Amino acid sequence: MKKDKAQPKVCIGALVVAALVAGAHADTVTAVNQAERFLSLFSVVRFKNTACTGSSGDSGTCYAKHSCLLNGGSLEGTCAGGFGSCCVTKIGCGGTSRNNCTYIQSPGYPNTFSTAMTCTQTIMFNSDVCQLRLDVTEVDLAPPDNRGMCLEDVLTFSQDTKWSQVCGTTLNTHYYLDVDPDASTKVDFTFNIGAGSYPRKWKIKVSQICCDQLSMAPMGCGQYFTSTTGTIKAWNADGSNRVYLHGQNYATCLRKELDRCTITYTETMDDWFLPRCGDTLEFPFSFLNTLNPSVGVTCIDNAGIRPVLQPATATLQGPQQIYFVTGDGGNDHFGIGQNSNLDLEFSQGAC
Ligand SMILES: *[C@@H]1O[C@H](CO)[C@@H](O)[C@H](O)[C@H]1NC(C)=O
Repeated sequence: MKKDKAQPKVCIGALVVAALVAGAHADTVTAVNQAERFLSLFSVVRFKNTACTGSSGDSGTCYAKHSCLLNGGSLEGTCAGGFGSCCVTKIGCGGTSRNNCTYIQSPGYPNTFSTAMTCTQTIMFNSDVCQLRLDVTEVDLAPPDNRGMCLEDVLTFSQDTKWSQVCGTTLNTHYYLDVDPDASTKVDFTFNIGAGSYPRKWKIKVSQICCDQLSMAPMGCGQYFTSTTGTIKAWNADGSNRVYLHGQNYATCLRKELDRCTITYTETMDDWFLPRCGDTLEFPFSFLNTLNPSVGVTCIDNAGIRPVLQPATATLQGPQQIYFVTGDGGNDHFGIGQNSNLDLEFSQGAC
């Protein structure tokens, strides 16, 4: 947590200062010199490090050429009126980056690999950063066992305790890690890969969110949606054995959008997902009661109750928070029916 006595941390977005000898970019420099006559030898060009799209189609950040290369990025086109370069950064095992919007990738990506190893990838940031947003293209690791334990492969994070372990298959979604820059200005992503023959690969884009940024997710929100429709997805919702994982403890948060008054949740799998009764999935309203004869069922026990509850609509008075806490190591994590996980579409309806 941030200490109150600390200086307020204001993210100005790092400014890059480039000194330009007169003659280079002559048009710009001449124009500046005529407007501000005291500048005769060089001008200072400042631009914000905003997001850009590199020539490969991957995302990058607009940096001065030298700071991009210095920090291990590659130049993929220009930005900021030609003063900056669209800097795309990708790190492999053992890699470290402080560039905003860095991709962490598995060895040989997009090919798969199956060599036992410990692969650590480190994102460093400034003291005004409070969150990392992970845009997961794919994380494809060996699946968990039936109790949601990551025994063969496991991804762990050195800050934040929302997910004590991650494995299995997760595609096209995002997560937020809360970080405390007073404690440490880096996060290690550690992939412990076992000796099994499973074909692994991963690609995650890591963006740094400043403490004063409006787009910061509320603390504790592992997923945060600011759109009228979307798909809520827990880790390993795309796997062949897509049981829900053990050791998850977070909220999924949905902002109420302007002029939207209802919310409808639709299950994407065959059965509505409910966890075992030693675990918790808590919605901000009890639609289960109104839609299903099994009144009050919010988890499943060995009786194998199978409510079919879709779609579920409720009024939307404010933001939605769905808590998902899994600590029950004693039961198979099959949810209702085999092979299910938290994977819900939502849609906010008109007033
Ligand atoms: C990183 O990039 C994102 C997306 O452009 C931006 O919102 C954020 O402020 C940037 N972070 C920093 C530390 O500049």
